[in-house]
Amino acid sequence: MARPIRPRRSELATPASNDRMFAKSAASAADLVFLDLEDACAPAERLGARGKAAKALRELDWGSTVRAIRMNGVDTRWAYGDVIEVVTEARSALEVIIVPKVRRARDVWWVDTLLSQVEETIGLPPKGIGLEVLIEETEGLENVGEIARSSDRLEAIVFGAGDFSASQGARVDTNFDPVVDYPGDMWHYARARVVVAARSAGIDAIDAPFPNYRDPDAYRTACDRAAAMGYVGKWAIHPSQIDPANTAFAPTPEEIAHSRRVVAAYREAEAAGKGATGLDGMLVDAAHLRHAATVARTAELLGLQG
Ligand code: GLV
Ligand code: MG
Repeated sequence: MARPIRPRRSELATPASNDRMFAKSAASAADLVFLDLEDACAPAERLGARGKAAKALRELDWGSTVRAIRMNGVDTRWAYGDVIEVVTEARSALEVIIVPKVRRARDVWWVDTLLSQVEETIGLPPKGIGLEVLIEETEGLENVGEIARSSDRLEAIVFGAGDFSASQGARVDTNFDPVVDYPGDMWHYARARVVVAARSAGIDAIDAPFPNYRDPDAYRTACDRAAAMGYVGKWAIHPSQIDPANTAFAPTPEEIAHSRRVVAAYREAEAAGKGATGLDGMLVDAAHLRHAATVARTAELLGLQG
C-alpha cells in the first residue's frame, strides 16, 4: 500500500500517562500529536498509559491532526505490549507509531512484522499503520541508510539530539547544545546524514526536540536552519512551539508565487526550444524547476495559496 503523504511541520509530544493534557493536544494546531509511552512516562506508569492513550485516540476529536504514539524501544520489556494493546484498542484511530532508539534495520522489521500480525488478527487493513523511527543512537546513525529502507511502513526519520548526544558522550547543556563555544552546529553531521538517508528513501526527515520552551526565537532559528537543510518539520515539546514550527516549515506566499513564475518562465523557454532562460537577472534551468515543484507540492499538501 502506498503510504499517505502527511503534513509534519510540528510533531507535538504529550505524555501518555497524563490524560489531563490530551484534550488540549487534540485541539492544538500541531500537524501530528504523539502520546508518549516512552521517556515522558515514568516506568511505573507505562503499562497504565497504554489504555489512556488508546481511549484518547479513539474518543477525542483530533480534527485533521495525525494521531500517533511513541512506543518503547524494541530492546525493552514494554515494546510488544505497547504495540499489541494500543493497536488492538485504538484500531484505525492510531495512524503512526514512532519507534525510538532504532539501531538496525531489523529493529524496524520486528515492529513491522508484529504490527502485521495484529492487523490481521483484529481485521485492520494490512500496512495501514505507518512508522517513524528515531535516530538517537550512534549505531542507528551508522546504519541510517539501511534503516531508511527497512520497511514500506516507514514515513519519516526523526533526529533525536537528546539521546544522540548521550549516546555519543557529547558534553552538552540541557538544550543539547555544546557546553563550549563550538564553531558551527555540533549536530550538523548527524542532521545531514539523517536528511540525506530520508530523502534517498523518499521519506520525510524531522528535526529534534528543543527543550528550552522559554526561548521561542532560538526555537524558530533552529526550525529555519532545519528547513533550509530539507527537514520538513520539528518536534514540539510544548504547545508554544507549534506555531513557530508550522510557520517555519511552510513556504511563504512569496516563495509560492515566485516558484509559479519560475515554472512559467521555464515552460515558455521550453516551448521556444530552450532548456534555460532568465528571470529577474537569474538563470532558470531544470534544477530550478525541481525546486519549484517541491514548493508547489508542499503548498498543496498544506492547502496554501501563493
Ligand atoms: C528524543 O527522543 C531525543 O532523545 O532527542
Ligand atoms: Mg530520546
